[in-house]
Amino acid sequence: MKVPLLDLHAQYAPLMDDIRAAFEKVFETHYYILGPQVRALEEQMEQFLGVKHAIGCASGTDALLLALLALNLQPGDEVITTPFTFFATASTIHRAKARPVFADIDPHTFNLDPAAVEKAITPRTRAIMPVHLFGQPADMDAIMAIAGKHGLAVIEDNAQGIGAKWNGVCAGAIGTIGTLSFFPSKNLGAMGDGGMCLTQSDELDAALRQLRVHGENPKYFHKWVGLNSRLDTLQAAALSVKLPRLTGWSEARRANAAYYRQHMSDIPQIKLPFIHDKAYTIYNQYTLLCEDRDGLMKHLQGAGIGCAIYYPLPLHLQECFAYLGYKEGDLPRSEAAAKQVLSIPVFSELTHEQMDYVIQNIRDYYRG
Ligand SMILES: Cc1ncc(COP(=O)(O)O)c(C=O)c1O
Repeated sequence: MKVPLLDLHAQYAPLMDDIRAAFEKVFETHYYILGPQVRALEEQMEQFLGVKHAIGCASGTDALLLALLALNLQPGDEVITTPFTFFATASTIHRAKARPVFADIDPHTFNLDPAAVEKAITPRTRAIMPVHLFGQPADMDAIMAIAGKHGLAVIEDNAQGIGAKWNGVCAGAIGTIGTLSFFPSKNLGAMGDGGMCLTQSDELDAALRQLRVHGENPKYFHKWVGLNSRLDTLQAAALSVKLPRLTGWSEARRANAAYYRQHMSDIPQIKLPFIHDKAYTIYNQYTLLCEDRDGLMKHLQGAGIGCAIYYPLPLHLQECFAYLGYKEGDLPRSEAAAKQVLSIPVFSELTHEQMDYVIQNIRDYYRG
């Protein structure tokens, strides 16, 4: 048996007729950049997430950069974030000419630890950037309280958490600006790159819409140096077909996670995902903490099971961030997680038979 980490063939098979029809509509107008389907998707997303404004752009990375540019950061300004995340979370802070400041994670949820955030605040701090890692929201009550107390903006990197909720409110709709990624492997993936900014603020909405077209308004007049970062119309058309199915897909992922919990809780060498009481998680990844992680990964790959390490080296130890002056041991919980995490298949179309095969192989490995 083969169990891929993600099976896009299975996901797309029932959708292709509808997607082709949606593409045909775009071909009728050849309106490829910011066509009417882009605004239609933005409206669909505003409703789905309960957020006033959704602004499509070219990727999740650009969504973060646009969000940071909208805050008008100055060189030397600091943005506090987690080191246990995808590179773009911190690279965009650097690109926005600010300084990434890393705070350690909660070792159970892998999300930013609010107490560590508070300790990292200085007079130069302008924003906090929590990441809703693996589809579980960070502790937004605590983060919003800290931000309120110190007058800071909050940018939610929600690339992995579309449809996840904290206390019943959609992740990405809580902070000053939220961001989404439509990278093909995300829970709502495009057929290429795509991203979105989310905000409740009319003022930030106007700024983000301007920043995604080179900061121009009116045409050929530039108040800011923005980006060329539009969501293209074909991607929006495909995403509009997929969005109504997202809640069903998330529920299927949650059911798969429940199945793993039911059948793997007794394996002493692994820790299953810890989900906070206030979080509704959508399992962009199902991530174990494992003894002898590299050995287990090799065994699973040998058995034809897709698995991956998100992320093997925390960002404070990446070569490009050496100038920030961090060293090994500075953020021990992130460093420990990086050595033990392993993500296994949890995609919506996974069958019980496939999960049984994954579980059996994990058991076999530790039995020796
Ligand atoms: C946490 C996080 N932030 C940002 C991004 C960047 O998104 P994109 O690949 O769409 O640029 C990703 C995507 O992998 C991500 O997982």
